[in-house]
Amino acid sequence: MDTENTPTEQESKGISRKTLLKAALVAPLPLLVGQLPALARDARTTGEPLAPTPFCSDDDDPTVPQIEGPYFKPNSPLRTTLSGPGIPLTLSGYVFGLACQPLANVLLDFWQADTNGAYDNVGFTFRGHQFTNAQGAFTLTTIVPGLYPGRTRHIHVKVQAPNRPILTTQLYFPGEPRNSTDTIYDPRLLMNVRTANPGKEATFDFVLNVPGQPPTSPSPSASPSTSPGGTWRAGTTYKAGDQVTYGGATYRCLQGHTAMAGWEPPNVPALWQRV
Ligand SMILES: [Fe+2]
Repeated sequence: MDTENTPTEQESKGISRKTLLKAALVAPLPLLVGQLPALARDARTTGEPLAPTPFCSDDDDPTVPQIEGPYFKPNSPLRTTLSGPGIPLTLSGYVFGLACQPLANVLLDFWQADTNGAYDNVGFTFRGHQFTNAQGAFTLTTIVPGLYPGRTRHIHVKVQAPNRPILTTQLYFPGEPRNSTDTIYDPRLLMNVRTANPGKEATFDFVLNVPGQPPTSPSPSASPSTSPGGTWRAGTTYKAGDQVTYGGATYRCLQGHTAMAGWEPPNVPALWQRV
């Protein structure tokens, strides 16, 4: 059982339980085809402060501690690819502050079970940390974690902006039968997951309790100079399925969002898929 970041510690650092329980990002279950959990990036147009990502402790069944925990290990390797047999999974997304500003240089430390539901507590298999880029984006290449007794399918992560408290949480998969019986499961932590070739693609945006100013909208006049040619424009609101051209290629929008400089289609595979 992980105890390094208890709810009490989080609350003392400014994230109230009441705030965390606000249902702003709750998605109805079961998810229907085409009905995806909201991503924080979708809220950029509302001007409303974002709800922080809930913390989550790892209350793995304490009756069998030899098998199930503790699972977190410090000093994981710096890497974005966690290799091993299993169904390939690419997880990408952004880390935002409360004002929806992208946060760069945020530490994301992932750990998960292997395809058989086992954690490597000796070495660092399926453990790795990375940092968000200048656009607040991250990508993790891994596998779909296996199931183990007492839990639904999940990925652990610690997220920490520079000089800020650590958020310890878990990400979940939609459509898992055990989601309805796992007492730790939280639908606000559902990833968007789609079938890819090969494997699965998932997206999730974290929101950290970091105050700030909303990013300024790029001025229309700035768009032509940042575009190498095409119909994509910063400041434009796109919905899933929209198609644009950029740099001579055509892209299909995967998630509704308002485009901004730095989120050009080739830079954000979570938002744009080349067709
Ligand atoms: Fe776990």
